[in-house]
Amino acid sequence: MPVSDYQLIEAWKEVLTLSRLEPGQTVTILTGAATHPQTLACALIATQTMGAVVNRLDLPPVNGEKALSRDALAYLGETPLTGNRAAIAALKASDLVLDLMTLLFSPEQHEILASGTKILLAVEPPEVLVRMTPTLADRERVLAAARRIKGAREMRVTSEAGTDLRCPLGEFPAIAEYGFVDEPGRWDHWPSGFALTFPNEGQASGRIVIDGGDILLPQKSYCTGPVTLTVEAGYATAIEGGIDAELLRDYMASFDDPEAFAISHIGWGLQKRAYWSTLGLYDREATLGMDARAFDGNFLFSLGPNNEGGGKRTTACHIDVPLRRCTVALDGVEVVREGKTVGGEQ
Ligand SMILES: [Fe+2]
Repeated sequence: MPVSDYQLIEAWKEVLTLSRLEPGQTVTILTGAATHPQTLACALIATQTMGAVVNRLDLPPVNGEKALSRDALAYLGETPLTGNRAAIAALKASDLVLDLMTLLFSPEQHEILASGTKILLAVEPPEVLVRMTPTLADRERVLAAARRIKGAREMRVTSEAGTDLRCPLGEFPAIAEYGFVDEPGRWDHWPSGFALTFPNEGQASGRIVIDGGDILLPQKSYCTGPVTLTVEAGYATAIEGGIDAELLRDYMASFDDPEAFAISHIGWGLQKRAYWSTLGLYDREATLGMDARAFDGNFLFSLGPNNEGGGKRTTACHIDVPLRRCTVALDGVEVVREGKTVGGEQ
């Protein structure tokens, strides 16, 4: 069901207030070929209502000829900022960038954030944005989870389906995504609601079983049967199972890059307004699948780069896989038990 412009403008104002937008600050709205017109129109009204100086910067798409799908996260190559000093200067001169285009992680984005500019990505359909308008409580919950990751030396993930994965921690920071940008230099994604980190380089080991009903992204499909990943020295060295395993292997092989098979971010979902079932209700091109990434109690793991966490690995291939019914423990203390978040602050 659609939402009204009024509802979306109110949601924008809520997010901008949480992001501490002040009158007189400069907001640049980044747009591209796939920007949702209602999201843009409402962002323009909300930012002006709040007294901001508002720009719009429209950049042409890149990577379309290389990617196998239209999903904005399906191919992490160059970005429209690569070599684009004028755009970089405009964004660095802004207090807040509203990314309605999907500016992927890049050295240029890092440079913009380092200048103090905040960046908020918002590309999900308007009704998803409204349903998952972030709150201060979301922030507290996700930050509490990130604090638990920060002190931990190992994340262990098990499941009845057969997952038994050990990820030594400590090399990379804990990252909290709660849907707004309340500090200078912060990047976030509305909607979200999860905490994550990366295993120490080359140290994740064990087995991951993607069970029937678990979700593959950017395939945006529910797995029809078990797919088993053997994980050795930080890489998935075998992907076995039925047609889902074949499809995943074929897709990943198209990148012709061994780094695609590295274990990337690991963490768990904390957003109670996100739902496992939503993905099946949407056209694949209408959504990035943030419900799938954020639903409460998932174990979200990823294959591909770790440069977002400060590592050296870049690869154009990036697979996100939210698993249900896992138990996630940090140094032996459960934070998710059989797909449900546990712990005092949660
Ligand atoms: Fe990811």
